[in-house]
Amino acid sequence: MRLFGRTMTAAAALVMTTSISFAEDVEVLHWWTSGGEAAALNVLKDNLAGAGTGWVDMPVAGGGGEAAMTALRARVTAGDAPTAVQMLGFDILDWAGEGALADLTATATAEGWDKVVPAALQGFSTSDGKWVAAPVNVHSTNWVWINKAALDATGLAAPTTWDELVAVLDKMKEAGITPLGHGGQPWQEATVFDGVVLGMGGDLYKKAFIDLDPAALGGPEMAEAFNRLIKLLTYVDDNFSGRDWNLASAMVINGEAGMQMMGDWAKGEFLKAGKVPGTDFVCIRFPGTQGSVTFNSDQFAMFNQADPAAQEAQVAMAKAIMDPAFQSAFNVVKGSVPARTDVPNDAFDDCGKKGMADLAEASTAGTLFGSMAHGHAAPAAVKNATYDVITAAFNGEYADGAAAAAALAEAVAAAQ
Ligand code: GAL
Repeated sequence: MRLFGRTMTAAAALVMTTSISFAEDVEVLHWWTSGGEAAALNVLKDNLAGAGTGWVDMPVAGGGGEAAMTALRARVTAGDAPTAVQMLGFDILDWAGEGALADLTATATAEGWDKVVPAALQGFSTSDGKWVAAPVNVHSTNWVWINKAALDATGLAAPTTWDELVAVLDKMKEAGITPLGHGGQPWQEATVFDGVVLGMGGDLYKKAFIDLDPAALGGPEMAEAFNRLIKLLTYVDDNFSGRDWNLASAMVINGEAGMQMMGDWAKGEFLKAGKVPGTDFVCIRFPGTQGSVTFNSDQFAMFNQADPAAQEAQVAMAKAIMDPAFQSAFNVVKGSVPARTDVPNDAFDDCGKKGMADLAEASTAGTLFGSMAHGHAAPAAVKNATYDVITAAFNGEYADGAAAAAALAEAVAAAQ
């Protein structure tokens, strides 16, 4: 306030400060509430503060973001949309289709986003030729996080096939620890199923979850995938039902459980707990999926605002998100990899370097698929129908995998 010198009264200064900080704030709706997620969120908040943009937090807890999307719908219906919203895949396209999202094309063009954001991501950042979201990362779901001491105790190597995986899980069970740290929530079971189905082959994954081909959804390979999922239930503890994903990560971190099948946001929890990849834990692709990647990208969509200052804050936030140095700093903490292809991998640990290399390889080989569990394979109605069948199957509600596959084909057909 030096600019205004001594002539400015305290009251005037207060009004000025209040209105300036209000106008330059962004209100951000997100579901990053676990320890690792919050640590990453702080990197974003600090980055924005450095650019002079204030932060009004609207956290809605719940992994995978279903609760956040419900809260968002209520806010928009009430005519009070937040400035910026963490969002995944088809949800972005749905809101863009409703005309609710601000057009970021001028910023994107000036900054050349189209040259550095991978095409697979651009498919969800753009709608009708306009940029409607800024991608902050690329996560992937086909990972397994293993406690290193628990793995060493089995005397077996990290598994690369389904049979090897079962052998490791059996040994862990014999050793008296919970083999699989798991949280019984539909989105978590769907996340595990991303890996299980991809382990049956990229063709099955694509035909079933992206093309929504009834024969693939209800066929013998999907039946086998469900049999595998049902088998995994035999490796969880009695208290798995309803457990949050980060508590399942904590079980692996503490050596209470042997491994967790989860997207690479789980690595954020290990890092937050001071654990080191290769020493304390091991990251592997879900057995049988090396060479393929099921991805999801967190993007920030900006909701239409009438106030020009709010619009400016949105542009400032979008620019801050797309800054290459920020993308490195943020993703190192989050467990994900950058949403730009021009960010060096130097700052990343071995799991992060592997994530970046796997993504590039899968992208070239045509084995990069949108995650069904995290809204990048099909619109929400189909995703939710899929969740219902997967969770019912995991909890033993079908006679066998074939019955579950038949139910899946039926549910997906009804949801379209
Ligand atoms: C995913 C999201 C990640 C992580 C995870 C668990 O959908 O992409 O950033 O937050 O949910 O909450």
